[in-house]
Amino acid sequence: MKSVASAEDAERLGAFNEAIHGDGTDAMTRELILHHPHTRPEHWLYVEDDASGQVVSSLCLIPWTWRYGSVTLRAGEMGIVGTLEPYRHRGLIRALDGRFKELLRDGGYHLSHIQGIPYYYRQFGYEYTLPLEVEWNLDLYRIPDAEHDTGWRFRQATLDDVPLLARLYDDAMADLDISAVRDADTWRFLLEHSPKTAMASETWLLLEPGGQPVAYFIIELGGFGVGLNVNGASRVRFDQGQAILRQLKALAVERGKPFVRLNLHDQSTLVQLAREWGAYSDGGYAWQIYLPDVAALLRQIGPVLEQRLAHSIFAGLTDSVTINLYRAAFRMQFEGGQLKAVEALGRVETGGLHLPPTLFAPLVLGYRSREELHANYPDVSMWGYSGLLIDTLFPRMESFIHMIY
Ligand SMILES: CC(C)(COP(=O)(O)OP(=O)(O)OC[C@H]1O[C@@H](n2cnc3c(N)ncnc32)[C@H](O)[C@@H]1OP(=O)(O)O)[C@@H](O)C(=O)NCCC(=O)NCCS
Repeated sequence: MKSVASAEDAERLGAFNEAIHGDGTDAMTRELILHHPHTRPEHWLYVEDDASGQVVSSLCLIPWTWRYGSVTLRAGEMGIVGTLEPYRHRGLIRALDGRFKELLRDGGYHLSHIQGIPYYYRQFGYEYTLPLEVEWNLDLYRIPDAEHDTGWRFRQATLDDVPLLARLYDDAMADLDISAVRDADTWRFLLEHSPKTAMASETWLLLEPGGQPVAYFIIELGGFGVGLNVNGASRVRFDQGQAILRQLKALAVERGKPFVRLNLHDQSTLVQLAREWGAYSDGGYAWQIYLPDVAALLRQIGPVLEQRLAHSIFAGLTDSVTINLYRAAFRMQFEGGQLKAVEALGRVETGGLHLPPTLFAPLVLGYRSREELHANYPDVSMWGYSGLLIDTLFPRMESFIHMIY
């Protein structure tokens, strides 16, 4: 097992990934390793066959920062996972996952996420946890043409627009409880390097009649399905949103796409408007998430937990709350509403809330409520606590994760 140590390794790994995943993964690997502001070559792991010197299996860790309420989390995406066919089912990814988890621990990551194939990653402790590949589909005939020229214009964004894009993005994300942080360097990567890769996209700006850019939307050039995929948009006023949907219709017609697909948060302003015009939800997938260090995560979100208590009937709480994940339990000590300590208790019988280990991710990230989990899994149970306390600490949250490459 090795990790990338030279530009030549990056080339070899790119060729390997292209052979497994196809179209544009070669460039994506190289661009990510060589140019992304947050990646590190040593996070790109691979297994080489001693006999042939050939790369036969690989995955990587891509570092993200997520916002969770008022705090940030370190998130390590497991990316571009693959093994050459003759080497499959021999535990190579399992071995790489072992090293990957060491990197997560050493790097102080609070969670790891993957947009992986169905089921497979459950074997490594991941659980479906946040919305991914959402489909709000809008048929073109439902988008009414404007009766007169409304004066809105469009152009593609350039590097000079990065400060504006970053501001508009942050503004849109303020509506969510959990989102990915996109700093200016990440925006530069998205505009300059992503277009050369499997993640190629176009970032469009809406210009008001005076020529000033006031909103953006992003079209993914590849992506799933046959629609025109929109995977980013700023907060829009209704007239701006109407202009954008009309522009999307024009682009869809030009590119022979039968409908517009909004891969956006359910409550985003553009989705709200599209729903008014008849957009329908056609399902979606979910991010799979693994929690490498529950105690560290609880400490990190401590300020958010304290805010939740302060705005509830548990204001000023002095008590300990133990979450028992069967193989390990974690006790949070609250004094006067402040989280004073989080202690890893190891394997114990005690604890108010019992959950299978993988189900804490959907609870703590607000994807499933305690009640929903309990209704579906008899081994989610509570002893002694008021459900209200757990629901206060871990409410449902609005989240959407936009890509950083
Ligand atoms: C999926 C893939 C990465 C698995 O690689 P691998 O080296 O065979 O994986 P491992 O042998 O380490 O798998 C670990 C375990 O999962 C099992 N497994 C392998 N592929 C599986 C699959 N598709 N579904 C379920 N289990 C699978 C293995 O048998 C092994 O079980 P064991 O530890 O109980 O013996 C490989 O088949 C591949 O490259 N597929 C094509 C590309 C792809 O789909 N990548 C994933 C993108 S998210």
